[in-house]
Amino acid sequence: CSSLFDGCFRQPGEPPLENGWIPYLGCALQFGANPLEFLRSRQKKSGHIFTCKIAGQYVHFLCDPFSYHAVIRQGRHLDWKKFHFDASAKAFGHESMDPSHGYTTENLHQTFLKTLQGDALPSLIETMMENLQSTALQSGVLKAKPSEWQVDGIFAFCYKIMFEAGYLTLFGKELDGDKSVARQQAQKALVLNALENFKEFDKIFPALIAGLPIHVFMSGHSARENLAKTLLHENLSKRANVSDLISLRMLLNDTLSTFNELSKARTHVAILWASQANTLPATFWTLFYMIRCPAALKAANEEVKKMFENSNQKIDPSNSRLVLTREQLDNMPILDSIIKEAMRLSSASLNVRVAKDDFLLHLDNKESYQIRKDDVIAMYPPLLHFDPEIYEDPLTYKYDRFLNENGQEKTCFNRNGRKLRYFYMPFGSGVTKCPGRFFAVHEIKQFLSLILSYFEIELLDSDVKIPPLDQSRAGLGILQPTHDVDFRFRLKTH
Ligand code: HEM
Repeated sequence: CSSLFDGCFRQPGEPPLENGWIPYLGCALQFGANPLEFLRSRQKKSGHIFTCKIAGQYVHFLCDPFSYHAVIRQGRHLDWKKFHFDASAKAFGHESMDPSHGYTTENLHQTFLKTLQGDALPSLIETMMENLQSTALQSGVLKAKPSEWQVDGIFAFCYKIMFEAGYLTLFGKELDGDKSVARQQAQKALVLNALENFKEFDKIFPALIAGLPIHVFMSGHSARENLAKTLLHENLSKRANVSDLISLRMLLNDTLSTFNELSKARTHVAILWASQANTLPATFWTLFYMIRCPAALKAANEEVKKMFENSNQKIDPSNSRLVLTREQLDNMPILDSIIKEAMRLSSASLNVRVAKDDFLLHLDNKESYQIRKDDVIAMYPPLLHFDPEIYEDPLTYKYDRFLNENGQEKTCFNRNGRKLRYFYMPFGSGVTKCPGRFFAVHEIKQFLSLILSYFEIELLDSDVKIPPLDQSRAGLGILQPTHDVDFRFRLKTH
């Protein structure tokens, strides 16, 4: 009955209200076991835009990709900052990063662009490549003799290697001359401990975004605080090779903010989470789909082999010094398509903007809708990614879907004969587009290149079914599988 009243309070000219029966269970982003089906059925009934009341807030779902531009271009009526600043403070427990609240004058957006893109990329990529090789080859991953097969879960394998390499790339290594095996093992234990804390905290992340207080989650809470402790400035300052991103953030925390030491550390936990929470499942899906598809595996192997041969690099696991520059990584269209296709099938990030004032939203079909101040406008990219008119057989994995007839990146996708401007959005859109997206794709390419060069890989069960997506995280990025899938690997003999 509350939906009846809500309906009455909405005005003519506003999008149709679809609330009332949403299976809202205290989680703002959990709109049912299958959000895509839910939104599709509402779209069929109500058209290009409709409204749901979620967690007390009116959310207008915009479903027509030709109208996305009206929201994505930075209009004066729409705010993207508020939602992000609020969400981050809620989940990570730091004081507000919004300069208008008075705790800092840092322009976070600028910090990200400056340290994750352009001139900052080559050194990030170089460090990541070194760390990936030491993680995958020189440490605990290889337990058996070189010629023996080892079995692991693909998910567990990707998490171990990518988390450790990514963590060391952003936060550096301990500044300690001691290179003994014992010391190195202690360093490794620290990172593996961080991975366990990260996973524990990540589990409760959807609930925190939905507004539940962290105190109700004992282990998730202590996991977050453990992560923060290791990222206190006094600990970070003892590390060498800290990335530009973290060094600059430390400097700006110290000079432009009034945060206490714990709050500063929690802002670094936020960066850690942003850098890993999507990358790790994206790496899983990329490797999983690739191993499962012989044609993809063959094409990827050939591309990687050619890249190393052309730059006269020898694959030698006992002396792993492979280098892949930004130019080389940008010139691997097959791996690019393999990564894009895996993310098309697994991403579910909700793109949101908040109305700064009452205004009229003009859609592509010339209809206009009244939007009220503080209402949220949301775009859900899976509606695009699984649209059969954009992607033929959208449920089928096609590793070369993003390649054109010349074997280069395909950039033209149509719907009803019209060219689409937005057809692939796992990294968000417009001003809120992920600032780490170039690094993310490069690090996954590096990971694949190394795995393919050093290891023979195969599924334990070649007919294994695709694990379902864990929809409890829908809205928050790349979804995880509900269970792991076993594979086996062994060093290639070159
Ligand atoms: C924000 C996706 C990897 C750093 C975001 C957003 C998405 C996203 C959807 C939010 C955009 C929005 O709200 O509209 C992804 C995916 C990744 C990935 C799919 C991997 C496959 C990374 C990496 C880094 C990173 C590796 C850093 C090293 C960030 C940061 C933000 C962000 C700092 C917040 C930006 C802001 O609020 O201004 N990412 N991301 N991301 N991402 Fe990524």
